[in-house]
Amino acid sequence: MKVLIHNSAELAQQAVADILSNRIAASPASVLGLATGGTMEAVYDRLILALSESGVPVEEVKTFNLDEYWGLAPDHPATYRSYMNSRLFGRAGFPVGRTFLPASDAADPVAESAAYEAKIRDAGGIDLQLLGIGQNGHIGFNEPTSSLASRTRLKTLTESTRMANQQYFDGQEATPKYAITMGIGTILDARDCLLLATGSNKADAVRKMIEGPLGAHCPASALQLHPKATVVLDAAAATDLTLREYYQYVHPDGIDVQPSHG
Ligand code: PGA
Repeated sequence: MKVLIHNSAELAQQAVADILSNRIAASPASVLGLATGGTMEAVYDRLILALSESGVPVEEVKTFNLDEYWGLAPDHPATYRSYMNSRLFGRAGFPVGRTFLPASDAADPVAESAAYEAKIRDAGGIDLQLLGIGQNGHIGFNEPTSSLASRTRLKTLTESTRMANQQYFDGQEATPKYAITMGIGTILDARDCLLLATGSNKADAVRKMIEGPLGAHCPASALQLHPKATVVLDAAAATDLTLREYYQYVHPDGIDVQPSHG
């Protein structure tokens, strides 16, 4: 796992936006896995700027989001479809027909999940999967004890996840109980994984993900199995890492330099 520690959240967000925009510039027909949540709001603002400043075309990009609440009307303002349309797709000019999320009103979530897996397969798989992490170590909505081999399916959200997300709803009672999420196995199939965590409230989950034992109690620890996972952190999210000085020695200021000898 490549661990890049930046001095501030702003620098970490910019680094992730730059990786995404450079990836699209290098491969305009990239298949990107995208994420939502508070952490990604500033990333998408910065990505939109980076894309427009360097004139990177996005018409050929295909996107698959990690997850979507289940049991909400599609036009509900708190669906992840609404989030993505208003925060990224509409503003950056991504053709909405090439952007995919599970349907929040799917009548048959089992069929919807299988269809979502098939769409990812038909697109040739995901080149780069963007990820956040929950305070309980979830990636997507793969809550603790999710199978490390899981595929897209309906998951029941934990109370702690519903509490963290109630700010987007009219109180916890109105916060959805279910979501359709890519599985951990689905995420691990992406050719690259890129996880961003900022803030001290993520420090414990970040330590368990990077240094803790691999296990279903911390779903993000499954990234230890991925051959090309990059974790971008701010200093606050990195505070609990036992080997923090080593990561900073390898990549000073979070800069992804390649080693050279001589
Ligand atoms: P957050 O959510 O960015 O709102 O903290 C991240 C997550 O739950 O994956």
